[in-house]
Amino acid sequence: MLRLAALVLITLALSAAVNAAGVPRPVIDIAKPGQCIDTPEVMRRTHMDLLKHQRDKTMREGERHSKVSLNGCIECHASKQNGSVLGGPDNFCQGCHSYAAVKLDCFECHQPKAGYKAAGGKR
Ligand code: HEC
Ligand code: HEC
Ligand code: HEC
Repeated sequence: MLRLAALVLITLALSAAVNAAGVPRPVIDIAKPGQCIDTPEVMRRTHMDLLKHQRDKTMREGERHSKVSLNGCIECHASKQNGSVLGGPDNFCQGCHSYAAVKLDCFECHQPKAGYKAAGGKR
């Protein structure tokens, strides 16, 4: 029910954005455009389940090389401005999450920036 309410809110917000600015979504700055792992509609609805399922799989079975990887999301969705999915309303994960008022605690442990391997950072 909560999920439904959040999705309805976002759908309303998205159509408001279309009407106001001719832009099809709230400020979502995708640094590396290309193909997401699924359509935007499916991603909006299921990314939380994909990530959680994948987290459980990794933690329990040691599976690593799936198409659903948190760092994979970050590589594409980190912003050009600060290289991160967090930081402010223009950052992909944080932007929509503060919009939808859904808390995102993943980054207390996971790093939010692209290029973490090159930088030798935590994962
Ligand atoms: C190869 C680059 C790439 C990867 C990897 C990727 N995405 Fe995407 N994602 C995109 C692009 C580009 C779009 C916009 C697609 C469009 O508008 O047609 C998008 C769209 C989305 C949307 C919908 C945004 C909206 O409201 O329009 C969500 C949510 C999303 N991605 C989450 C994720 C998550 C979570 C992951 C990791 C499991 C991920 N993406 C992995 C490139 C990527
Ligand atoms: C287009 C808006 C949008 C974008 C972009 C977005 N999210 Fe979400 N996310 C949501 C909404 C709405 C929910 C809540 C759905 C629910 O309550 O089940 C959610 C829920 C989640 C959850 C589950 C939270 C919980 O405690 O149950 C995780 C994990 C998550 N998102 C991760 C991410 C990550 C990581 C990114 C960036 C790669 C991202 N999201 C980008 C809208 C978005
Ligand atoms: C208390 C610390 C902690 C928190 C909070 C946390 N994780 Fe993790 N996560 C880990 C650890 C540790 C691993 C295993 C890393 C490894 O195997 O190298 C992991 C692995 C993962 C993986 C598989 C590896 C990858 O990079 O794709 C995913 C996906 C993932 N977590 C998603 C999430 C999401 C989504 C959230 C927020 C809902 C979250 N995690 C919150 C500690 C945490």
